Amino acid sequence: MGDDGCLLVFGRLRHRPTRVPLMPTLETTVNGIRFPNPFVIGSGPPGTNARVICRAFAEGWGAASAKTVSLDASKIINVAPRYGRLKDAAGEPYGWENIELISTMPFQRWLDEYREIKQRFPDRVLIASVMEEYNKDAWFEIIGRCEEAGVDMFECNFSCPHGLPERKMGSAMGEDPTVLAEVCGWVRQATQKPVWAKMTPNVTRIEDPSHAALAAGLDGISAINTIRSVIGVDLNTLRPLPTVEGYSTAGGYSCKAIKPIALRMNMEVASLIRQSFPDRTLSGLGGIESGDDAAEFILLGAHTVQVCTGVMKHGYELVRKMTDQLLAFMDQHGFDTVDQFRGHALPYFTTHADLVARQAAAKAATKAERQAAKARAAKGLAKGITADEHWDEDQFVQQSDALVGN
Ligand SMILES: Cc1cc2nc3c(=O)[nH]c(=O)nc-3n(C[C@H](O)[C@H](O)[C@H](O)COP(=O)(O)O)c2cc1C
Repeated sequence: MGDDGCLLVFGRLRHRPTRVPLMPTLETTVNGIRFPNPFVIGSGPPGTNARVICRAFAEGWGAASAKTVSLDASKIINVAPRYGRLKDAAGEPYGWENIELISTMPFQRWLDEYREIKQRFPDRVLIASVMEEYNKDAWFEIIGRCEEAGVDMFECNFSCPHGLPERKMGSAMGEDPTVLAEVCGWVRQATQKPVWAKMTPNVTRIEDPSHAALAAGLDGISAINTIRSVIGVDLNTLRPLPTVEGYSTAGGYSCKAIKPIALRMNMEVASLIRQSFPDRTLSGLGGIESGDDAAEFILLGAHTVQVCTGVMKHGYELVRKMTDQLLAFMDQHGFDTVDQFRGHALPYFTTHADLVARQAAAKAATKAERQAAKARAAKGLAKGITADEHWDEDQFVQQSDALVGN
């Protein structure tokens, strides 16, 4: 530590008003739980059993939202193929549709696997992603049994856009703030542990269901789940994709292509939290694949960031690159913790009318400044150049002439 709060970090001198930790840290406390870093495995294939979740934790992920469970897995029947992708010119997928359902693994086996994961990685945050029908007893049972198995917290999947809405589950609940308020009320009664409500983007105003979940007492919002989509039509067979026995069904779109929509919805939910529920939290997801992506979500108010499709593309080791890149971003700006920049970009959203007014004011100020400069230059011409700022680009020759002495 140097004089007057100067600190040498990574070979760079930075000024600090107060003493702060010496090295930037990604450790963060969210809803009272310590996360070693804000990187969370998003519910889906990367969290389908204890083996893969333990691999994720071994690679450095701070938390995992396991694949969504329900009490009766025998009702969950997947098809294949169930994914469809769009690729860029270099062959990298940027858009990914799935028609995959929630976990097919029996609930009792999940409880055993939760126990095993917590035993092996007690310092990581294990989130049970749960989904049930519109039935209070079922919600009490699923929450109670997961809690007994030692999970740290819950994420309620109110957002799966395909398959399960037919049973009034998933996004069928998440799209209806009245039903959502009631179900979230049950969940709140069922556990003291933190609970996030995972929201569907397939609504006009994500603030409405988010408000219902937070007003019912839930601790945070995860946003977003997949966007209802049709990935394409096969121009040879003339059938929609992905084609299963000649037919298809609308699915959920994820990956890089949805990041701008996810960022917009994060901005809207974060603004709601800031205005009306300042003690609640936001877990951002949708197209995140890098530390810079993570920084953008945090700048818009996210406390944690989740990755699902990115892990399916790049593997669990992706977290190492993300960690390095997020730390490099923090070092570049002199941030020591994620708390220091969370929501930093939020106050800079306004209405379009306000943008117009601001631009008109800025143009008027520039014009006034130019006129003032011209006036100063004209004054300089009249009495000769007495200061360098009197030189004017339009009267340069005349000003030069005026200074000639013969
Ligand atoms: C194949 C696949 C399966 C998914 N299964 C679940 C699930 O069981 N529960 C859930 O809440 N979200 C599920 N999701 C949604 C993701 O968790 C995430 O919300 C969405 O894909 C957007 O994030 P991403 O672009 O990082 O994948 C699934 C996504 C994919 C691609």
